[in-house]
Amino acid sequence: MRVFLFGVGVVGRHLLRLMAEERRALSDRHGLVPRLVGVADSRGRCICPDGLDEQAVLQHKEQGGSVGTMARWGTLGGTGEDVESIRSSGAEVIIETTPTNLREPIRAIERLRAAMALGCHAVCVNKAPLATAMPALVEVASYNRVHLRYSGTVGAGTPVLAWAERCTLGDRILSTRAVLNGTTNFILTRMADHAETFEAALAEAVRLGYAETDPSNDIDGLDTAAKIVILANHAMRLRVGLPQVRITGIRGIPLDHLRQARERRCSVKLIGQIDAEGVRVGPAEVPVGSPLDVPGSMNAVTLTLERTGEVSLVGRGAGGRETATAIIRDLVDIWQCTTRAGIGSARA
Ligand SMILES: NC(=O)c1ccc[n+]([C@@H]2O[C@H](COP(=O)([O-])OP(=O)(O)OC[C@H]3O[C@@H](n4cnc5c(N)ncnc54)[C@H](OP(=O)(O)O)[C@@H]3O)[C@@H](O)[C@H]2O)c1
Repeated sequence: MRVFLFGVGVVGRHLLRLMAEERRALSDRHGLVPRLVGVADSRGRCICPDGLDEQAVLQHKEQGGSVGTMARWGTLGGTGEDVESIRSSGAEVIIETTPTNLREPIRAIERLRAAMALGCHAVCVNKAPLATAMPALVEVASYNRVHLRYSGTVGAGTPVLAWAERCTLGDRILSTRAVLNGTTNFILTRMADHAETFEAALAEAVRLGYAETDPSNDIDGLDTAAKIVILANHAMRLRVGLPQVRITGIRGIPLDHLRQARERRCSVKLIGQIDAEGVRVGPAEVPVGSPLDVPGSMNAVTLTLERTGEVSLVGRGAGGRETATAIIRDLVDIWQCTTRAGIGSARA
């Protein structure tokens, strides 16, 4: 299976490591032999239809270089030439791991669209194209008879989407409540446990590397909103996008709010919610010790099913290696679908 990787950052590099480490197991267990035929970062690209050495790409990136400066096949620039790059590499699958830019998702949307129009399958961990254009992208995939997979966008390595989808077989999801953002969870836990103000807890999250220097997507609820939109489209078949989500973040949440919740034996969490009233994100109380009362970077999802009642899934919700594992899972899934159904060629 010939793959082209867009983005060689934390997730992309973990993926290259896993591809090298798991080569034997993937071949023995699934008959899948991924071959890296192209890589691109923000400054250039490196394409070799005969296959690139993952270790060489890793080493080059770890020394701070762009893949565009790699010997023989690297070229700098060309960030507007995605279609030509994919075509000339002979890729059968593209893997999209460029940064999630919810305000300007168009570049990633266009890349996915173009790849699928060329007949490539796509694996995407970038939330922006899906949160803003999921129904259209699913349609493009279906029209071109290719597979679009995105299991790493929600829950990182924890298979939230596949699990939620399975729950709908023979039953119906009435509502969903989920904790999907580690940064806000860290801040809220820290405020409650250490009686710290929002500002102090946020500063600590930045100092420890849990929050980015600009944490607005997390604390203003956009990251949770993007994930709940993907979950709503995937598991509940709702055709919603970010503009339809009512979002309240946790910026400046008063310490008293958390203190009072504790007196009621509750924790405050940033909750993404889907029910008859629509899709929304905001701080809400959950009983101490309940499945949604998770600490730190853990994610938790509770579905209320019509006949089965409440079911919950809890797992780590972030991490480069975990997210790279989700990409491998998607590649195996695509490989199995194509080899069973005869869709696409997916050559080794
Ligand atoms: N990290 C996690 O735990 C996690 C979990 C779930 C989902 N995700 C998602 O996975 C994606 C990658 O995350 P990350 O942590 O790996 O980010 P990252 O470390 O910032 O890496 C992003 C990579 O994308 C490259 N890039 C930027 N613009 C590009 C362009 N126009 N064309 C090609 N490459 C481009 C960057 O190039 P340079 O190397 O030149 O800077 C870099 O290699 C994000 O969308 C993120 O939301 C991450």
